[in-house]
Amino acid sequence: MNTSNCRNSCADALVIFGVTGDLAYKMIFPALYSMVKHGALNVPVIGVASSKLSQAQLRKRVKDSISEAGKTDDRKALSHLLSLLQYVKGDYNDPATFMSLYQALGNAKRPAHYLAIPPALFATVIKNLAAAGLAAQARVIVEKPFGRDLASARELNDIALSVFPEDSIFRIDHYLGKEAIMNILYFRFANSFLEPIWNRNNVASVQITLSEDFGVKGRGVFYESAGCLRDVIQNHLFQIVALLAMEPPVFQGYAAVHNEKAKVFQAMRPLQPDDMVYGQYAGYRKEHGVAKNSRVETFCALKLHIDSWRWQGVPWYLRSGKCMAATAAEVLVELKPPPQRLFDDSAPTNGHANYVRFRLSPNTAVALAARVKRAGEEFIGDQHELYLLEEQLGNESPYARLLTDAMAGNGGLFTREDAIEAAWAVVDPVLDKPREVYRYKAGSWGPKQADALIAADSHWHNPKLIKDKK
Ligand code: BG6
Repeated sequence: MNTSNCRNSCADALVIFGVTGDLAYKMIFPALYSMVKHGALNVPVIGVASSKLSQAQLRKRVKDSISEAGKTDDRKALSHLLSLLQYVKGDYNDPATFMSLYQALGNAKRPAHYLAIPPALFATVIKNLAAAGLAAQARVIVEKPFGRDLASARELNDIALSVFPEDSIFRIDHYLGKEAIMNILYFRFANSFLEPIWNRNNVASVQITLSEDFGVKGRGVFYESAGCLRDVIQNHLFQIVALLAMEPPVFQGYAAVHNEKAKVFQAMRPLQPDDMVYGQYAGYRKEHGVAKNSRVETFCALKLHIDSWRWQGVPWYLRSGKCMAATAAEVLVELKPPPQRLFDDSAPTNGHANYVRFRLSPNTAVALAARVKRAGEEFIGDQHELYLLEEQLGNESPYARLLTDAMAGNGGLFTREDAIEAAWAVVDPVLDKPREVYRYKAGSWGPKQADALIAADSHWHNPKLIKDKK
């Protein structure tokens, strides 16, 4: 499943709408630099935004961003990237902007249009691209969030599909470009020992935690319109669930992976209020752009069911939050205990005896946990983890990989229309419903009500900080 080659026709220009924005500065420019460095980008890069900016100012911005990301080791690559840049100023509502873009594109026939702009503008830009004749043979790359509920996701899909065919639409979920997450797919289906235990007969529960020890970092206005469930659970965490829960793809290639992932979303039982616990960190209401009486959740824990032959009856617990005790992402697939308890100590103090643990960030690890007898007369043992993989991740963001794939027309690591809509259908019943939002202390593991949610089946496994790992 190599996604990095240019199978069909590669894009011959990259247009970045929102080139003066935060996403471009923090993620896209360093990714472009890395692409140039690896020979994956050698076409005009045209930034579009409404600010008055000279070409020189844009180049400076790009340079600053790359040096802030700590990536200036290759001067030649940097100056080549700067030479590829152009800037078009204009309002996205104004057809004249798209005429200027048309001119800037010159002979380019197959541009990739990257919408790094607020979602409210997606439809406007897509329609204007079509009206200016800039959509034929082109691709569109759309940042998350793709919709804010089922209805808006459908509407956006309809608009995008009225202009571009599905295989020219690249919906970004940057988690899909992360090594540790691609490894879930690989690990599951490149090994035979897993399959016999990877089901309702042997798995007691699955839990996924994505915790961050920082707050909304100046994104209060965006966050107020999103909240944790929309921001990371409906997309990033659900994508992880899909990779863990999917059936083996029926043939080699990403289309088959897309098919199986979509079936997982379709099999997820729509969430109900009782499945949910929401929290808000103390101090959130003082963040810039946040309402003084905000009830937006910065923490969300939920219980999910997948009504499929493989997973019937297995609870899936998902949890994410800002201002938590650690920044980490981890999956714990807990196996059922042995049928009889023959040794007094066979239930370890932390409660999880046998499990598979995927550490996804900030480092990556795959570990299998088991109990092993301690030397001596007594039948007592210790909990051990067998590490199959343990690596520090480089600071390469997934964006270089995703943009390279989109430019090449490889949609493997992007989300498909039916999967996005099926995922929204799962969360739709609980969106914007009256709910309790419990306060929690910054630096904690969230409100204690989340412990009660999982108590019947397990308890939360709190990812350790790397320096704490024994
Ligand atoms: C983004 C969310 O999609 O993902 C952020 O909008 C979140 O709120 C981020 O912090 C997490 O991504 P990563 O790659 O830093 O784990």
